[in-house]
Amino acid sequence: MNVQKFIFDKREVESIDGQTTWKSPSNIALVKYWGKIGEQIPANPSISFTLNNCHTLTTLKYKKAESLSFKVFVEGVREESFEPKIKKFLERIQKYCSFIEQYSFEIHTKNTFPHSSGIASSASGLSALALCITSIEKTLDNTMSDSFFKEKASFLARLGSGSACRSIYPELVVWGENQSFENSSDLVAIPFDGAHEVFKDFQDTILLVDKGQKVVSSTVGHNLMHNHPFSKQRFTQAHENLEQLKKALIEGDLKTFTAIVESEALTLHAMMMTSNPYFILMKPNTLNIIEEVWAYREKHNLNLTITLDAGANVHLLYPKSEEKQAMSLINNTLIEFCENKSYICDEVGSGSVEI
Ligand code: DP6
Repeated sequence: MNVQKFIFDKREVESIDGQTTWKSPSNIALVKYWGKIGEQIPANPSISFTLNNCHTLTTLKYKKAESLSFKVFVEGVREESFEPKIKKFLERIQKYCSFIEQYSFEIHTKNTFPHSSGIASSASGLSALALCITSIEKTLDNTMSDSFFKEKASFLARLGSGSACRSIYPELVVWGENQSFENSSDLVAIPFDGAHEVFKDFQDTILLVDKGQKVVSSTVGHNLMHNHPFSKQRFTQAHENLEQLKKALIEGDLKTFTAIVESEALTLHAMMMTSNPYFILMKPNTLNIIEEVWAYREKHNLNLTITLDAGANVHLLYPKSEEKQAMSLINNTLIEFCENKSYICDEVGSGSVEI
């Protein structure tokens, strides 16, 4: 795939003012994106579940202007601390959407999950904004097809935050070239719709072990994969895991699903522990939760599966049919390991929507 097709170069836009609103979800990776090259090109392919309840709602108000300017409002209040990241994003996408140079924007955004929950909002936030900008492009180019709309939004979202490009699509989404996924690309995510029905309503309960800011930003974390002693093997392993996971997803093979997903989470943390400088992102309660989940799973012959992002919180994944047992484990045992006993119930979702 060539970046050329994503360049929309309209020098002079008609004087249209307006606004557009998108709701876009967060996602949880099963095979992790960790390491990138150049302009947001992933060092290995990844696959994620798009979530349902954790999402960002963004309204983009636009007015024709002499030059590009913008302001960010979070729940109605100006939030200047968000502006450097958005500025960088707008600068990056300028060559693909030159029309933004002729607008002044107001970005009004809010998350359904608390900013202080330790849950990354970059995937939902940047995908929602990318969708809003692609909506403006669609008003300027009425020949744009619905499928290209999503591709372009995914392309732009990636430039904001890598994992954001996966949030455009529902359910299971692949990003990064891999031989087993036809049309897979480093530039955009693609939906994977061949999975067994058990994965259609998978649950994700996010156990909030640490609600603080991330110890290491993902940008710093990705960079640690440059010159990492194990990076080459890790990138090869991600390809293999993705290929094996594809088979398990198609067959509904939950045991293999668990083995690959948990190994991916622990490998991500192992990469952080073995980089220079090194970091431990888990907390004692992360390990307490993992041990309790493994013991309970064994005892009751269940398929509860843990995964982690680059932080201490634990995502507990399980089929809908095991919800009762999972909730009983959470409310009787795991809740004690969560900060202020908090957790968020989420599940596989149907992707971004225009409001
Ligand atoms: C551990 O997408 O947040 O969640 O591209 O620098 O914005 P940037 O990184 P980001 O990295 C996410 C890393 C991860 C794994 C994943 O979601 O695949």
